[in-house]
Amino acid sequence: MHAKAPPSGKIGLAVLISGRGSNLQSIIDACRIDGFPAEIKVVISNIPDAYGLVRAQNADIPTRIVSHKDYTNKTDFEQKILGILDEFSVDLVCLAGFMRIISPVLITPWEGRIINIHPSLLPKHKGLHTHERAIEAGDTTSGCTIHYVTPGVDEGEIILQRSVPILPDDTPDTLAARVLEQEHIAYPDAIRRMAAQISKSA
Ligand code: GAR
Repeated sequence: MHAKAPPSGKIGLAVLISGRGSNLQSIIDACRIDGFPAEIKVVISNIPDAYGLVRAQNADIPTRIVSHKDYTNKTDFEQKILGILDEFSVDLVCLAGFMRIISPVLITPWEGRIINIHPSLLPKHKGLHTHERAIEAGDTTSGCTIHYVTPGVDEGEIILQRSVPILPDDTPDTLAARVLEQEHIAYPDAIRRMAAQISKSA
């Protein structure tokens, strides 16, 4: 468990992204709601032109780019991220479409304080192409999962899930859109729960 105590009032978030950042936007929007128990301290992207960086800048949130391509090994890449997390008094790390598999170098110091969103009802359909696989498997339900990050990919304890039906004429794109609407509810909800837990343990 990370040793830091939360600041009084709101917990500090780091949001890690790789792309369009619609989940980041849902967290930005939630943080604007009166009484929401968290604020985003920094957005970190491994992709220099990720649109999520624009969303963060539009909300006056500090951004950092840590491109994996600038590092010859994963340890140095993750050490750089660890340094940024320390710089910004972060209490909770939120992976929101961060498309790198991370190792214990980054996970262990943040164990219990690093969470991810995955677009399936875990333990079903870990990894990529979840919507194609849910349809191909003949599933009638899909959804999203917020879970703790552990070294096993998409294997950490589940914090919450939200379900949607899979309709007979669904394509991966139509299903992805239906799941994404639920993702945007799930992430702020999970952060509320985590904030309550972090405050209790402080
Ligand atoms: C989301 O659907 C998220 O669940 C998924 O990437 C998308 C990011 O969208 N994450 C994963 O697949 C992680 N394995 P966003 O950039 O618009 O938030």
